[in-house]
Amino acid sequence: MPSTLAQFDQPVAGVDPALVPFRTLSSGARMPSIGLGTFGSDHVSHEAVAEAVKYAASIGYRHFDCASVYGNEEQIGRVFRAMFQKELRRNEVWITSKLWNDKHGENDVIPSCEKSLSDLQAGYLDLYLVHWPFPNHHPPGCDVSARYAHAVPYIHGNYMRTWRKMEVLVDRGLVRHIGTSNMTIPKMELLLRDARIKPVANEMELHPHFQQPEFFRYLLDKGIQPIGYSPIGSPGRPERDQTPEDTSPVEDPVILEIAQNLGVHPAIVCIKWAIQRGQIPIPFSANPRNMLSNLLGVVSKPLAPADMEAIAKLDRNCRLIKGQVFLWKDDQSWEDLWDPNGRITPA
Ligand SMILES: NC(=O)c1ccc[n+]([C@@H]2O[C@H](COP(=O)([O-])OP(=O)(O)OC[C@H]3O[C@@H](n4cnc5c(N)ncnc54)[C@H](OP(=O)(O)O)[C@@H]3O)[C@@H](O)[C@H]2O)c1
Repeated sequence: MPSTLAQFDQPVAGVDPALVPFRTLSSGARMPSIGLGTFGSDHVSHEAVAEAVKYAASIGYRHFDCASVYGNEEQIGRVFRAMFQKELRRNEVWITSKLWNDKHGENDVIPSCEKSLSDLQAGYLDLYLVHWPFPNHHPPGCDVSARYAHAVPYIHGNYMRTWRKMEVLVDRGLVRHIGTSNMTIPKMELLLRDARIKPVANEMELHPHFQQPEFFRYLLDKGIQPIGYSPIGSPGRPERDQTPEDTSPVEDPVILEIAQNLGVHPAIVCIKWAIQRGQIPIPFSANPRNMLSNLLGVVSKPLAPADMEAIAKLDRNCRLIKGQVFLWKDDQSWEDLWDPNGRITPA
C-alpha cells in the first residue's frame, strides 16, 4: 500500500538510541546495529521516504542507508538539514551512500560523492559504498530482461581505478569509511590484495532464506562488517523482480512459530536473528508502526539459542535480488554475476 504522509502525524514514544547496540568496525568506529533502508522502489514516493527518515530519527534510528540511485537524496537531505539545525548533532547519526554503476569512471567518482553530499546536506558521509562491482547501468523501473548496451563483466583493473578514487575520498575527508556491496569472495580477495584503504563493510543480501554462510564467515575473518539488505525478504519488491523459485522468510513455518511464541510479526524475528548473528540489517519501512516495532525488536529480549540454531538451518540459498539487469551477455544466467564456481566469471 502506498504510504501517506498523514501516517506520520501521530507522536509515539520511541527507543533511546543509547540502548541500540553498535558494531565496532576495523577502524574503531561504532556503527549502529540497525539502519533504515531508504529505497522506496516503485511504491513509496521520495517525499514519503524522506518523511519516514524524519519519523525514524524521532523514534531513535541513528543509521540511514541511502544511495544516489534511489533518487531521493535531495528530499532526505532536507530532513537531515532540519534535523542537524535542531535536535541532533551530525556525529550522532550514521549516513551511508553509494556510488552508482554509471559513475565508476575515474573522473566521475569524486563528483558523484560530492553530489550525494550536497543533496544529503550531511557535510561528510560515514560510509560510501561501490553499489555494484559492475559499471553496468540500467534505467529505473526497467524489466529484468533489459540490458545496458555497453555492459561488461567484472574487470579488476577497472574496479581498482574506481577504488583509488574511493580512497581519495577518505584522504580528503569527504567520507569516513569506504566499502563494497554485492561482492563475492574472489572479487574481494583481489580488492584486499590491492587496496591501500581496505573496505570496512560489505553490503549484501542476507535473510534467513539467504544466509551466504561462507561469504559471511569470510568477511568476519577479514574484519569486514556485513550489512544485510532485504533482511525481511523484500516483500515489497516489484513483481518484475520476482521469480517462481523465490521463497519468503516471513512465511517460513519455523519463523512463524518463533514469532507466534514471542507475540511479534515474523519480520521482527528476521531482524533479531540478523543482529544476533552479527550482520547489520537495514530494513526498509515507510510504515510508522513497522518502523517502531523493528527498532523495538533490537532492544527487546533476544532470540533463544535454540531459535538461532533453528533459523541457521533454514538457509535455502534463495537469492531474491539477482541483478539480472547487470548481465553483459544475452544468453547468460544471473548466477554469472555471483561467481558460483569460486572464480570470477570470465567474459
Ligand atoms: N546494496 C544494494 O544493492 C541493496 C539492494 C537492495 C536493498 N538495499 C537496501 O536495503 C534496504 C531494505 O531492503 P528491501 O527494501 O529490499 O527489503 P526489506 O527491508 O527486507 O523489506 C521491506 C519491506 O518489508 C516491509 N516491512 C518492514 N518492516 C515490517 C514489519 N515490521 N512488518 C511487516 N512488514 C514490514 C516494508 O513494508 P512497510 O513499508 O509497509 O513497512 C517493505 O515493504 C533498501 O531500502 C535499501 O536501502 C540495498
